[in-house]
Order: sequence, then C-alpha cells, then structure tokens
Amino acid sequence: MKADLLLHDVRIVTMVRGRYGLIQRGAIAISGAHIAWVGELAALPNVDARKRIAGRGQLVTPGLIDCHTHLIYAGNRTAEFEERLQGATYEEIAQRGGGIMSTVLATRRASPEALAAMARPRLRALLSEGVTTVEIKTGYGLQLDAEVRMLEAMAMLAEDHPVEIFRTFLAAHAIPTEYRRRPDEYVDQIVHTMLPHIAELPPEVRPDAVDAYCEGIAFSVEQTRRIFEAAREHGFPLKVHAEQLSNLGGAALAAGLNALSADHLEYLDALDIPVMMRAGTVAVLLPCALYYLREGRRPPVDLLRRRAIPIAIATDANPGTSPCFSLLTAMNMACILLGLTPEEALAGVTLHAARALGRANRLGTIEPGKQADLVLWDVETPAELSYYLGYTPKHRVIKRGVVLS
Ligand code: NIG
Ligand code: FE
Repeated sequence: MKADLLLHDVRIVTMVRGRYGLIQRGAIAISGAHIAWVGELAALPNVDARKRIAGRGQLVTPGLIDCHTHLIYAGNRTAEFEERLQGATYEEIAQRGGGIMSTVLATRRASPEALAAMARPRLRALLSEGVTTVEIKTGYGLQLDAEVRMLEAMAMLAEDHPVEIFRTFLAAHAIPTEYRRRPDEYVDQIVHTMLPHIAELPPEVRPDAVDAYCEGIAFSVEQTRRIFEAAREHGFPLKVHAEQLSNLGGAALAAGLNALSADHLEYLDALDIPVMMRAGTVAVLLPCALYYLREGRRPPVDLLRRRAIPIAIATDANPGTSPCFSLLTAMNMACILLGLTPEEALAGVTLHAARALGRANRLGTIEPGKQADLVLWDVETPAELSYYLGYTPKHRVIKRGVVLS
C-alpha cells in the first residue's frame, strides 16, 4: 500500500459511534487528504510511505470541532459585564437596546477586512487547542449588506489558515431597533429579501446553514417557523438557538423541520425530545454561556442520554454571554457543570459536533475514508483533555493530511 503519511506507534482514540474505541498500539496511513488505513500496528500491511511520524505512544484524536460560535464581531461589551456583576440581567440589558444590539451597531460600521482582523486572534486562540473545524454565525449585521460583510470576513479567515469554516446565517439573531415596533416586517425582510439574496451568493461566501434565536427577547415560534420554511425552500439546513432563557418550543419546531441541531436547551421540556430523536437533531450544549450568565437551570442531560440524542459541546464564543475562546474549557465545564463524562465531552467536540454540522460523513472520527483531521497529544489518557482548566497539553495538528505544527 502507498501512503503520503504514516503515523505509527500511536494510541488511537477513534471516536467511532461516539466511544473512545481505543487502539493501544496503532497506526494510521494517510493518502492525500484522507485516512486510508487505521488499526493495530501488528496488522499494518506493507506501507510505502513518503513520510513517517513515530508517535512514541502519543494519543491521536480526531481534530476538534467547535460547532457553535459568534467569533466575528466589533465593539466591546465589558460595561455590560460590569452591570451584570451588579445584578442586571441579560434580558433587561437586551430590552433596553444593549446586548446583541450594541454589538450590531459596532459591527455595521466595520469593513469585512476590519472584522476579519478583529476575529483573527480569537480564531487563533481556538486553533491553538487542536480545533480543526469552526462554525461561525452572522447575526451582528441584521441588515443584508452588513450580514454579507460578515460572510465575507469568514471567507477571509478561511484563506489565512487550513481550518475549515462552516458559515451559518443568523439574521434572525435579534429584532433590530429600527423594527422594534414592527418585528413581522423584519421577518418579511429576511424571508423575501435576505434569504433569496444569500442563496445566490458564490460558493465561498454562501452560508452552509440558517439559524434563528427563538426566545422571548428575539423571535417567536411563529416567526421562526416562517424563516425556517423559507430557508428550507432555498435548500439550507437548519440550526436553532432555543430554550435558553425559557421554553417556547423552538427546539421541537426546528426538529420537526429536520434541523441539524438545537442549541442551548436549558429549558428543554421532556415532551420536546421525541421529535428530536426522530429527526436525529443534535443537542448542542453551551456550558460556558450558562456559566457566564450564572444560569441555574441545566439542560436535561439524563433525558437526552436516555433517548440517545447525540450531545455536542461548543464554546458559543461571543461578546455577550460567552467570551470564551477555549473548547477545552467548554469540555471541562460540560463535565463539571452538566455532568457529562470525559468520553461524552470528547464525543461532543468530535463525532457529535460533526453531526451538528451535517458533516459526519467526512469529519469527527478516525476511520478509513474520513478526512485526515487529527491531533497528536502528549497526554496519558483521553480524559486529560477534559481535566485541565486553562492549560493546553502539548500537541501537533494534522489538517486534511497536512502536518501543521
Ligand atoms: O448564543 N443567544 C443568542 N446569542 C448568543 C448571545 C449573543 C450576544 O449576546 O451577543 C448566545 O448566547
Ligand atoms: Fe449562540
């Protein structure tokens, strides 16, 4: 067998079916951007490899995937942070035109180049922990031109670095102040103007999915439904921010329309879970946001487990509710605050995160045929990835078969 790269003498955490699936003395043969062979070193066929890496017992995992971020934004929300420390709530701040809307005003004034420049250090922080795929949402423009500038900034970030960026269109992130008294007209604007326009964008900027924030301070279930039905007509997969501050039924609505994921879910009701199960909708849990908001409610992890709903974990990196640019921290918080096991947390940032992006056919596990997105870690056990707080074990990243560091 011919290969471009052979990793040998490694312990492999395959994450097949969301379990560690540990191979103790393994090898991985990579051909081009893909995994050609995985297994026990002893069973390795004769390989003619252009390059070899001896792992000396290092642990290999799939490249990590942050499947929910709002990395691109301008402005500064530290004044709100201080207000919240004095007792103001996130909802109160949003209702008086702060919150998301304050980031929107700053983001609307920024060029795509400026937005990309501001996002670069945040993206670099994520990538420095073995993240190889990042989802990024629009939603701080809330006007067609400004939303498109955010998509252009994402394309610029993708040019700098081999990281894979999944673009999500979130014009339904908040009701912009100018539509405050006529929110349905903003929904009309999304349905009749924005979605038809973005559906025709060139492939390097066209969004990969459409999202909406279904919440008391944002869009009702009925408004969300109109946006999702229109998005589906343009062929966009769906994602939803739902049941973060209250239970409106946004997750069940989205799952009923076959959404890839429903995200947040602190107030998810048991009755909403069967429809997620039938649709294969992933529950994306965002522990850094609930930590940052000092939210006392927890997503119903036990019920999700019992129904075998795939659980993904993400940073929700954003300036308001989760200024967290560390996926390893999100994994730790998933264990400490939500009660996940380290194995579930790792599945949450690999296989299940890939499913939340509709890319599990290509990403998220170490199996023949999958893309060679891998991280070699200097750790003794896979649980170590969830164990530290503010410490990143030494590691090397391989993206699409190319050794990056
Ligand atoms: O996922 N919930 C809505 N969106 C973000 C918050 C964005 C912001 O406050 O700027 C979230 O928590
Ligand atoms: Fe979010």
